[in-house]
Amino acid sequence: MKITIIGTGYVGLVSGAVFADWGHDVVCLDVDQEKIDMIKKGVMPIYEEGLEELVKKVIDEGRFKATTDYKMAVEHGELIFICVGTPSNQAGAANLNYVFNASKSIGKFMKSGEYTVVITKSTVPVGTHQKVKKNILEGAGKKKVDFDVASNPEFLREGTSIYDANNTDRVVVGSDSDKALNMLESLYKHLNAPIVKTDLASAELIKYSANAFLATKISFINEISQICERTGADVVNVAKGMGLDSRIGPKFLNAGIGYGGSCFPKDVEALYRTSSENFYDFRLLRGVMDANERQKEYFLEKVWNKYGKNLSNIKFGILGSAFKNGTDDTRKSVAVSIIKSLRGAGANLLITDPAALSNTKNELGDKHINYSKKIEGVFKDVDAVFILTEWPEFDSIDYEKFGKIMKKKVIFDGRNLLDPETMTKLGFEYFGVGRKV
Ligand code: UGA
Repeated sequence: MKITIIGTGYVGLVSGAVFADWGHDVVCLDVDQEKIDMIKKGVMPIYEEGLEELVKKVIDEGRFKATTDYKMAVEHGELIFICVGTPSNQAGAANLNYVFNASKSIGKFMKSGEYTVVITKSTVPVGTHQKVKKNILEGAGKKKVDFDVASNPEFLREGTSIYDANNTDRVVVGSDSDKALNMLESLYKHLNAPIVKTDLASAELIKYSANAFLATKISFINEISQICERTGADVVNVAKGMGLDSRIGPKFLNAGIGYGGSCFPKDVEALYRTSSENFYDFRLLRGVMDANERQKEYFLEKVWNKYGKNLSNIKFGILGSAFKNGTDDTRKSVAVSIIKSLRGAGANLLITDPAALSNTKNELGDKHINYSKKIEGVFKDVDAVFILTEWPEFDSIDYEKFGKIMKKKVIFDGRNLLDPETMTKLGFEYFGVGRKV
C-alpha cells in the first residue's frame, strides 16, 4: 500500500519505518528540514532502540522516503496518517493546532478523483475527527475530493516501540466508512492480534481510557505504598500477591515516585478536561492526578526528614533522569522534577543516565550539577545516592564496591529497584517506597 506519515516524532517515525518493513511504500513528512536531513542520512532525531538500523534498512530497500515536500507526500498516500504532537495547552487540554494545520495541508494537496483515507494516530480528544474533516475540506477549497477520516490510536511505548508495533495486543480502528475500515484492516491483518473495528468517537476514547486506566493502576499501587509505610507491609509483596490474580495482572503495579512522560500526565489531564466539558466530574481521575503529585512529595519528605530543608553542604549522586528506562526522553520526568527540588534546596548533584544526559543538561544546565557518563562518578564522596529511573543497569551495580567510595552509605530508591534486606546487610541506610526495611 502507498502510505504517507505526517510528523516524524516517536509515533510517526516508528510507524513509518515499521510499515515500510512490512513491505509498504512509505513517505514520511515533517515540516522541520533539519529533522528530515538527519533521517535521510540515517541519523535518528530520537533515541529508540533498533530504529536507526530499521530506517537505514528500509531506505536502502527503497521503501522509505523522508521529505518536507507536502505536495509530493500527500499525492503519494492512499492512507495518510497524521502523527503530529498534541501537547497540553495552558488549560490542560490537548493543543490540536498541529493536527488541524496538517489536515488543511492534506486537503490542499489531495488529488481530486483519487480516494484517500486520512487517519489520526495522534492522541486526540473525542470528537476531533469532525474537525479534521472540516479542516481537510477547508484546505481543499473548491476542489472536489474523495476521502474518509479514520482513527487508529497507537499504543506503543517509548523504548520498546518497534517491538510493540509488531507485537501489539490489539489494533483499534474507527471510522463511519466500511471502505476505510477494510483498508486499515488489510494493513494490520497479518499481525496476530484482534482488530477492534468501531466508530470514530469510541476509537478516540479507547486511547484515553487505556492510558488513564494504566495511570490509575500506578496511582493505586502508589497509594497502597503509603498504607504499607504506615502499617509495616511491603508494597512489592502486596503487588505480587495482587498481580497474580489474572483479572488484575502484574503489569503497571510498580510503586515509585509517580508516573511521568509525554503521555500519561497529558492524557489523564485531557480526559478529565473532556469529562468536564461534557458536564461530568470524573472524580476518580482527580484522585489519580492528585495521588501522582503527592507521591513525589512523600518521597522528598524522606529527604527533608533526614537532612532538613537546607541541603547546601550536601552532595547527592543521582542515578537516572529519563522519565523511564529505555529512553532519552525527559519530558515531564518525575526524576527531573525531584532533581529540581533537591537543587532548589541547595544540594550539589552528580547525575548519570544511560541515555538522557544530553536532554537533562539542556533542561537543567550545570549550576550545582555535574554530569557523569560513568556510573561510578556519582558515588564518589556523596552523602547519598538516589535511584530515580528504573534502568536495569542500576540494578546490577556492585553496590558493595561503590559503597566504599561514598561519604555516607545512604540510598534513596525511588523505583524500588533494590532489595532492602540486601542493602541493609551491605551496611546501607535504605529508603524505598512502601518497602519494609
Ligand atoms: C504510554 C503507554 O504505556 C503506551 O501504551 C501509549 O502508547 C503511550 O503512553 C502513548 O500514549 O503514546 P510511555 O509514555 O512510553 O507509554 O510510558 P510507560 O511505559 O507507559 O510509562 C509511563 C510512566 O509510568 C513512566 O514514568 C513510568 O516510570 C511509570 N510507571 C510505569 C510506574 O511508575 N510504574 C509502573 O508500574 C509502570
